[in-house]
Amino acid sequence: MTTTEKAPALQVEGLTKSYSLGTSWLSKVLRRGSSTLTALDGVDLELRRGEVLALVGESGSGKSTLAKILVGSTGPTSGTVQHDGVVAGKRDRESSRRVQMVFQDPYSSLNPRLTVGAVLAELLRLHDVVPRSEVRAESIRLLGLVGMEADVLDAYPSQFSGGQRQRLAIARALAVRPDVLIADEPVSALDVSVQATILELFARLRAELGLSVLFIAHNLAVVQHLADRVAVMYLGRIVEVAPTAELFSSPRHPYTRALIDSIPRMTAGSVNDEFELDGEPPSPYDVPSGCRFHPRCPLADDGCRATDPALLTIGPARLSACLKADELATIPLPDTTATELPR
Ligand SMILES: Nc1ncnc2c1ncn2[C@@H]1O[C@H](COP(=O)(O)OP(=O)(O)O)[C@@H](O)[C@H]1O
Ligand code: SF4
Ligand SMILES: [Mg+2]
Repeated sequence: MTTTEKAPALQVEGLTKSYSLGTSWLSKVLRRGSSTLTALDGVDLELRRGEVLALVGESGSGKSTLAKILVGSTGPTSGTVQHDGVVAGKRDRESSRRVQMVFQDPYSSLNPRLTVGAVLAELLRLHDVVPRSEVRAESIRLLGLVGMEADVLDAYPSQFSGGQRQRLAIARALAVRPDVLIADEPVSALDVSVQATILELFARLRAELGLSVLFIAHNLAVVQHLADRVAVMYLGRIVEVAPTAELFSSPRHPYTRALIDSIPRMTAGSVNDEFELDGEPPSPYDVPSGCRFHPRCPLADDGCRATDPALLTIGPARLSACLKADELATIPLPDTTATELPR
């Protein structure tokens, strides 16, 4: 086995992304003194081969910014991205092909003026995936992978439901035979019943194709039965990483705990509001001193206001950026056995 075969599918180190602000009156009001917005503030993360890693956090925490850097559609301000152990520099055709993205809105990757067959054929020819004589057969194979029949080849994207369009967008991403899929909230816009079928599809594709998947969601419940591991993001930082079952049974960051407690449950009397999140996250123009979660944390003390906790190893395969990760482990959880997908 070579070094690159042992390397994670993707690895990011010290990734930051800042946006400089405009000079309009609105941006001056929003920035409250600072001239840059920090969307990512030192992110370290690895996507292992063949795993589904969930990336979870509230809107604005930096998830899409990280996804865009991973597929090369924007560059980081600092830090590195490695693909198969090789630092990704200027994106060449081959590295672009191997990391594909699926979006929340499948319309953004499906040209509404082209039939499904034309969309797939265009990609297969552009990337020389199969000989021209096999393009139709390959298109039908791709549709089969996402649970669709050959008769949709002559239809336009507008003729499909949201769930079917997402299947087509996934088929499109798979056409160039990637080894990594970055899925940015691919079920957030779908009905709950449809969400479950798309989640099943991701699980099947991972198993059948050996794909490595970074699955982004703003809600933890969505990823509970899909992800092998979960990374929790808050205000541009990863604050906890853990195998999924351990994260749910013993969260070691109060923000993770709050996300778990906010999952709707069928069991009456299980609600615990101690960790309930108040209001919106702080502005990324004005990140709080010390631990960035302290203004919303029920465990915060003076030490938390003064010290910015690093993401540290707290056990086998577990990382937390909380000064009280051990104390949190002693606070019992509500019953999490009867969770349901969010409405
Ligand atoms: N192109 C951009 N210019 C300025 N600010 C941006 C840009 N893209 C994202 N942001 C800001 O960066 C932060 C993170 O955004 P984003 O990565 O979209 O978060 P998420 O996907 O978790 O909702 C937000 O405060 C957002 O407003
Ligand atoms: S370091 Fe302190 S404020 Fe930050 S999450 Fe942990 S307990 Fe809360
Ligand atoms: Mg987003």
